[in-house]
Amino acid sequence: MWHFRLWDVQGVAVFLSVTLYLCHLVGAISIHSPQRSLTRSVQEDVIFSVNISCDGVPTIQWTFMSAAVSRSIGTWQPGVYTNITEDYSSRVEMYNNGSMGLSDLRLQDAGYYVVTVTETAGSSKDTGFVLKVNEVLYEDLQYLSITALALACVAFLLILGLWLLDKAYRRIVACRRRKQMPENDETELHPL
Ligand SMILES: *[C@@H]1O[C@H](CO)[C@@H](O)[C@H](O)[C@H]1NC(C)=O
Ligand SMILES: *[C@@H]1O[C@H](CO)[C@@H](O)[C@H](O)[C@H]1NC(C)=O
Repeated sequence: MWHFRLWDVQGVAVFLSVTLYLCHLVGAISIHSPQRSLTRSVQEDVIFSVNISCDGVPTIQWTFMSAAVSRSIGTWQPGVYTNITEDYSSRVEMYNNGSMGLSDLRLQDAGYYVVTVTETAGSSKDTGFVLKVNEVLYEDLQYLSITALALACVAFLLILGLWLLDKAYRRIVACRRRKQMPENDETELHPL
């Protein structure tokens, strides 16, 4: 009888600890992210890709951090609500797996992006991403060379125009002189 009871108590204890362990496993938040360091060019789009698993509906918050600022980009609970900060509302897309898409990148978007996942019970976990944003050098050069070419064309046309005007002016002056002083024409124009 006593033996049985002892066995029962042990069994219940083992059952409880296994259950607790499983609960702990299920409750643990996991954030899977294939790539944590990204490089894009100005005006391109980026997706900070994560896949979140946790107990219940997670609250996902993305925060931007750089040397100068730290600001909230948005918070959402998949299927419940989405709250995107006004500055980002036109450029940010939220996905149910926790990922965030940011479009039309600017140089100031370079920095750290942190995703914080909070589960219903209150525990939370976060993961950081690094984003580098490059200037579009090639297009800049193209733009510069086209501008230079256009300026050269304008300069050439101006010089051509001035030359033609100068020529026309000389002809007009010569004509007028010839008309005003037809007799002295030869001697006036060619004093030597
Ligand atoms: C999360 O979802 C987005 C959009 O459906 C997808 O592009 C991305 O690859 C997903 N990320 C992961 C890690 O599964
Ligand atoms: C949305 O987020 C802003 C800033 O993070 C906060 O002030 C505001 O109360 C939030 N709105 C809702 C409906 O949660």
